[in-house]
Amino acid sequence: MNVRVMLLSTVAASLALAAAQSQSAGLPKLAVKPKYRVCFTQSEMDNPWRLAQTKSMQDEAKRLGWTLIFTNANGSAAKQASDVRSCIAQRVDAIFLTPREEKPLTPVVLEAKRAGIPLFVIDRNVDEKVAVPGRDFVTFIGSDFYEEGKRAAEWLVKKTNGKATVIQLLGSTGSSPAILRQKGFEDYVKKYPGIEIVASQTGNFTRDEGRKVMETLIQAHPNASAIYAHNDEMALGAITALETAGRKPGKDITIVSIDGQKSALQAIVDGKLGATVECNPRFGVKAFQTLKDYAAGKTIPVRMVNEDKFFDATNAKAMLGYAF
Ligand code: AHR
Repeated sequence: MNVRVMLLSTVAASLALAAAQSQSAGLPKLAVKPKYRVCFTQSEMDNPWRLAQTKSMQDEAKRLGWTLIFTNANGSAAKQASDVRSCIAQRVDAIFLTPREEKPLTPVVLEAKRAGIPLFVIDRNVDEKVAVPGRDFVTFIGSDFYEEGKRAAEWLVKKTNGKATVIQLLGSTGSSPAILRQKGFEDYVKKYPGIEIVASQTGNFTRDEGRKVMETLIQAHPNASAIYAHNDEMALGAITALETAGRKPGKDITIVSIDGQKSALQAIVDGKLGATVECNPRFGVKAFQTLKDYAAGKTIPVRMVNEDKFFDATNAKAMLGYAF
């Protein structure tokens, strides 16, 4: 490296650091303490992914000896907003928020900031046009949902040689995984004229709704040759509906989904589900370490992306013990 290049990279590094510092300047401070009292506001507890995420947060709090105040919004964004307000009223040291939907949970992020409580958005996001990471909340930690949708599409295109009539089961309307998993998938398949999406309907990320929606959609589109489900629970519900309708999932209809839960990996082993893109729910260690780093004054990136694996017939059996 010559002197000029060295100088330029030093200047660039200093500018990046200054930008990060000035961005975090308006955020509430957090004192260094041996133990913290924190809130974790969960959106719902109705599937294996949510249970695994909650367990991961509770396990890490227990390991560190911190007090974790846990709230469950039972699938209501309004209840979750009031859960966050209750955490603010209890003057906790910090809040971990896994927002059910983007827009309804954005105002309480700003309220936490005004109350002087640092807030970490984990898993799903809020509306970043209004609440900005590094300025209004400390950081976003989670999977790249757009990439998950794209990876599902890549697999499907390869598996079907670019020719499929697809039914899409969407996640909960207005949630960041539903928005981005749809976009990532649709942007990718646009390049393949042989892939046609004939229906897209929400199954609200639940097995039961996935089943009910598929019962109707498979009647309306009996020529469907593939299903893309935004999560495993809906894919498993769809498999039940398809079997009831006399279809043979994995043989006459190809299914791809997202999450990587144990029962989905078992469905791959059984030949019914084609593949699932992992959405890693194990947030505990990373979330709590980030809080400690923030308190210690370290520069926190505004976005921290989780690594996700991929499961299909080549590795599902071997990965059963790893899955949640
Ligand atoms: O936000 C992550 C998604 O939410 C998971 O894919 C899903 O199973 C959960 O409900």
